[in-house]
Amino acid sequence: MALSRRVFVVGGAHTKFIGKGHPDFIWKRHPDFGKRENPTLPELIQQAVDGTLADTGVDPATVDRLYIGNFVAELFVNQGHLGSALVGTNPAFSGKPAARLEAACASGGLAVMAGVDAIAAGANTVLVAGAEVQTTQSARVGADYLARAADYGRQRGIDEFTFPALFALRIKAAHEAWGLSHDDLGHFAVKAYSNANKNPKAHMVAKHITYDWARAAGDGNPAFLSNEELHPWLKVSDCSQVSDGASAMILVSLDGLKALGLTEADAVEIVGRGHAVSSLFEDGDPTELSTVKMAVQRAYVDAGISVKDVGVAEVHDCFTITELLSYDALGICSKEDAAAVCADGVTAIDGKLPVNTGGGLVGFGHPVGATGVKQVLEIFRQMKGRCGDYQVPTPPRWGITSNMGGDDKTVVSVAIRNGQ
Ligand code: CAA
Repeated sequence: MALSRRVFVVGGAHTKFIGKGHPDFIWKRHPDFGKRENPTLPELIQQAVDGTLADTGVDPATVDRLYIGNFVAELFVNQGHLGSALVGTNPAFSGKPAARLEAACASGGLAVMAGVDAIAAGANTVLVAGAEVQTTQSARVGADYLARAADYGRQRGIDEFTFPALFALRIKAAHEAWGLSHDDLGHFAVKAYSNANKNPKAHMVAKHITYDWARAAGDGNPAFLSNEELHPWLKVSDCSQVSDGASAMILVSLDGLKALGLTEADAVEIVGRGHAVSSLFEDGDPTELSTVKMAVQRAYVDAGISVKDVGVAEVHDCFTITELLSYDALGICSKEDAAAVCADGVTAIDGKLPVNTGGGLVGFGHPVGATGVKQVLEIFRQMKGRCGDYQVPTPPRWGITSNMGGDDKTVVSVAIRNGQ
C-alpha cells in the first residue's frame, strides 16, 4: 500500500543495551553491586526519549502522537499500560494520544508502522519508542516468558529454552537439506561480535570472540538445550542476547520537517513498508523465512527498488541461522551460498551490502520491544555518518530492515532512502 503522505526520520537515541557480560550490568560479582542497580524499564524509556528530544531539537509540545513497542513488561517487571508510561516522560506530552503495540519481537516494528500510519492520517510529528527489560529473571525463566511468542500450548514443551529450540530445529533442517554446519554459522557470530566490539552502545562491546570459539561447542560456548534431538544443533554463540534497553526516534511529515527548519538532506525517508503475518498455529518449511520474504518484497515494491539498490540492511538475527536465512529472504543470495557470502565479507561493514553493522541482535543485543525501532534508527545513523567506529565507508542511498515476531510469524520491513 503506497504511502499517502511522505514520512521522514529526523533522529533519535538508543540507551546502552546491557545484560549479562556487559561491563555496566550489575550482578553479584560486579564491583558496584549493592551501590547501584540496573536501570528500570521507566528509566530506560526516559533516557531514550530525553536523548531523542535532545538529538532532534523537537519541542515536545509539538509531538502529535506517541507509540511504544514492548512485548512482555507485565511478566518481566509487573508493568503494563506503557502508552501512559511514555506520556509520563515529559509534562508536555500530558493528554496526547499514545499507545503500546505488541507483536512479540516485532513490537518495535509495529510501533514504527503505527507512527507511519499516524503521519499518513494527518499527524506531523510522532515519537516512536521501543523498550524491554528481561534481566529481572534468569535466562531459563525468561525463556518461558518469551515462549508466549510461540504457540505456547503446542510448542512450549519442545524445550525449556523454547525459542532457541525452535531455531535449533531450523539449523538441523538446513543441515539435512544442504549440509549446513557449525563451521558455517561461526562466520555470522564472528561478524556480529566484531561489529559490536566497535559499538559503544552494544551489549557485547567488550566480549571478543574468535572463529575457533564460535564454530564448535566448548568452554563458555555450551550446547545447552535439553531436547536430545536438538541439543547438538545450537550453541550459546548462535543466540541473541537477553538484553535491557530502549530506542526512540522522531517521525515527521514534510510539513513537520519544514517546521523544524530542516531539509530533506537532514533526514531519511521511509519510502516502503511491508507488514506480513502468518498463522501462529501452523509452521512452514523450516529452511525458509517465508513471512520475512513477503514483508520485505512488499517494502521493495512500495519503494520501487530491488536488493541491488540496497546499501545497508538490518535483519532480525535472533539466532545465527535467522541471519543466514534472511539473506535468502532479502534476495541477497541463496540460502546455500549465505555462509560463504558472510565469510567472504560481502555483508561486513566495509562489504558490498553491510548487514547489522552495530552487531545485530547477537552482538548489539535484543531488548525485544526495542529491536524494530533500533533497526530503523541504525539505518538513519549509517546514512547520516553517525556510526563512529562502525560507520560504513560511503553513506548508503537505500536501506532495508526486517523485524520478526515469533518464529517467522509477524514481520515488519521498512525501506529507507537517504535524503539529498
Ligand atoms: N556446560 C553445559 N551446559 C551449560 C554450561 C556448560 N558449561 N553453561 C551453561 N549451561 C547450560 C545450563 O543448563 C544453563 O541453564 P541453567 O543455568 O538454568 O542450568 C543454560 O546452559 C544457559 O546458561 P546460562 O543461563 O549461564 O546462559 P546465559 O545467561 O549466558 O544465557 C542464553 C545464554 C541461554 C543463550 C541466553 O542468552 C538466551 O536465552 N538467548 C536467547 C534469547 C531469546 O531466545 N530471545 C528471543 C529470540 S526469538 C525472537 O526474536 C522472536 C520472538 O518473537 C521471541
